[in-house]
Amino acid sequence: MMRHLLDVASLTEKQVQTIFLNALRYQQFTKQPPKYKDCPKIISTMFFEPSTRTLMSFQSAAYRLGANILQYEHATSSAKKGETIEDTITTMSQYSDALIIRHPQEGIMQHLSKYSKVPIINAGDGKGEHPTQALLDVFTILPYINRIINTQQKIVITFVGDLKNGRTVHSTLALLDKLYNNIEFYFVQDGNLILDEWYTMNLRNPFYEKPSIESIIGITDVLYMTRIQKERITDLNTLQIVGKKQILTKSLLEQSKPNTIVLHPLPRTDELPTELDNDPKCKFVEQMKNGVFVRMAILDYLLSDT
Ligand code: NCD
Repeated sequence: MMRHLLDVASLTEKQVQTIFLNALRYQQFTKQPPKYKDCPKIISTMFFEPSTRTLMSFQSAAYRLGANILQYEHATSSAKKGETIEDTITTMSQYSDALIIRHPQEGIMQHLSKYSKVPIINAGDGKGEHPTQALLDVFTILPYINRIINTQQKIVITFVGDLKNGRTVHSTLALLDKLYNNIEFYFVQDGNLILDEWYTMNLRNPFYEKPSIESIIGITDVLYMTRIQKERITDLNTLQIVGKKQILTKSLLEQSKPNTIVLHPLPRTDELPTELDNDPKCKFVEQMKNGVFVRMAILDYLLSDT
């Protein structure tokens, strides 16, 4: 059976567990021989939007598995001769064992998957979802909240920033909610960039809006910062960001609990000042590094029966 990874909703708990277990193995044994050395797989990256971490960590993951990469370049492709994206996907799927796609149009992956003979991995669809980021986010959070999960105490997770357009928030929120039932979610948004109801209407854990980081930092276990997604704020109504932008200052971080951790999917702007980089509560470098191990496990999972 061919499997895609298009969104968090279609992931089962069992699949997540398998991916995490394998990611843990890759994290602990980075020097094991490449899995696909004797029968190399070909993985294509098709990015219609800019990327550093997602693209590079997927490529790094593929190389570590012994797979080869084909990098589709939109600017020099037959799209310039008028070829449709559907035909491009059909074409690339003939040459590859998996397609990793990032595209600015929300919800497009389901449609594209109809044209692919091989698994498609959603590497970000506009302001929609980013399921592989969710997996690496939760993988990073896990060791820090394990002690709380085991006691069934409440875990307080606070998302900060552009919650309207931040696809990592949408997917990470959904994945945490799917896996645990002892979370309290708090949302601290930049001005009027509020989370669409679509992402909260089916949550099983309780959630609350808060006006500032200050009002919630004292009880937060995981603080998930995000940048304003400037490139997505294009229509005239939202062009004007009304209200306060949230910034994590040193003095705010000092008000957090001793075991609080701070994550950020990156890239950052000024919401996460560089003066905090060496604070042991900041785990975003560990988070980006985990991206390789988790993406190795994702590739491995999807390629295992192709
Ligand atoms: C994020 C993305 O592309 O959605 N970056 C990432 O994949 N690590 C976050 C962002 O661009 O702000």
